[in-house]
Amino acid sequence: MDGRTTLMALCILTVSFQVLGALANGKAQQLQVPPPAIFVFGDGAVDVGNNNYLEANDASEPVQANHPFYDIDFPNSKATGRFSNGYNLADFIATKSQMKTKLGNSELKKLLSNSIFLLDIGAIDIFYIWNRQFYTMDDNETNIPNLITSYGVGITALYNMGARKFVVINAPPMGSAPVMAHLTGETWNMLAMEFNDGLKSLLTSLTLKLNGLHYSIADFYGFSNATFMNPSAARFVDTVRACCKGSCTPKGGSPCQNRKQYWFWDDLYITEQAAKLAAAAFYDGPAQFTVPINFKKLVQGK
Ligand SMILES: *[C@@H]1O[C@H](CO)[C@@H](O)[C@H](O)[C@H]1NC(C)=O
Ligand SMILES: *[C@@H]1O[C@H](CO)[C@@H](O)[C@H](O)[C@H]1NC(C)=O
Repeated sequence: MDGRTTLMALCILTVSFQVLGALANGKAQQLQVPPPAIFVFGDGAVDVGNNNYLEANDASEPVQANHPFYDIDFPNSKATGRFSNGYNLADFIATKSQMKTKLGNSELKKLLSNSIFLLDIGAIDIFYIWNRQFYTMDDNETNIPNLITSYGVGITALYNMGARKFVVINAPPMGSAPVMAHLTGETWNMLAMEFNDGLKSLLTSLTLKLNGLHYSIADFYGFSNATFMNPSAARFVDTVRACCKGSCTPKGGSPCQNRKQYWFWDDLYITEQAAKLAAAAFYDGPAQFTVPINFKKLVQGK
């Protein structure tokens, strides 16, 4: 794991907590969120370009994805800042859910109670814990149970400001990502599994405490693993290597041509095709990939 990736991971983590903090403090209106209503908190897997507005500490640190070959499959191949070759998980879920877009003068509270809060937090935090094998970290109190506790505090804060419907994407088996090729991914995957178990218990217990809370956990780990176990069933030819190597700059070589047949876009993030299939599975696919209900039922309030 190189320092560049570490910095990228930490910057993204900081951003998600800054945004979460602003919302939790009741400053939602300052974020100028457009009419309903899917609020997204998370890492590069769901970033639709917000990360472009981050200040880089050092020009050599590519924490952003607003450069070729990112978004090569967008109209005009415009690089939007998504960490993908095209649309990502958040895009597919938001288009899929067909939320009504009328705002009128409805109160923020009503807006929030009808909105979907998409949380994709965890993978980057686990990375931080996992990374301690290689680097000395200052924060020695970060561990999976504390992470789950923080997640609970975050969800409760959003609930207290009116949020009722949560989509939670669990941590993928990042130990299997190309970035880990020369390292041992096993420990990472074990941390991810521990985190994912904790997430399930957390949401079960929050539902008992917070009246009217509804959620759907997307088993990104299980879906990824199911695809890795049988790539050809989903028409993938490569679920191990990156279509575009490294942080995917023109210097690093060209992306693969058959992008629909790759799971990994770069060393860390998945392709548009992988995001599309995962989002479809979570939206109304086989029951084993969502707990306790799929996104469609959550959106429809059934
Ligand atoms: C964290 O590290 C500091 C400095 O090494 C140490 O004083 C402290 O006891 C550690 N905390 C925990 C919970 O291990
Ligand atoms: C994927 O699932 C199989 C069982 O189908 C299991 O044996 C394997 O350990 C899993 N891999 C990971 C990375 O969790």
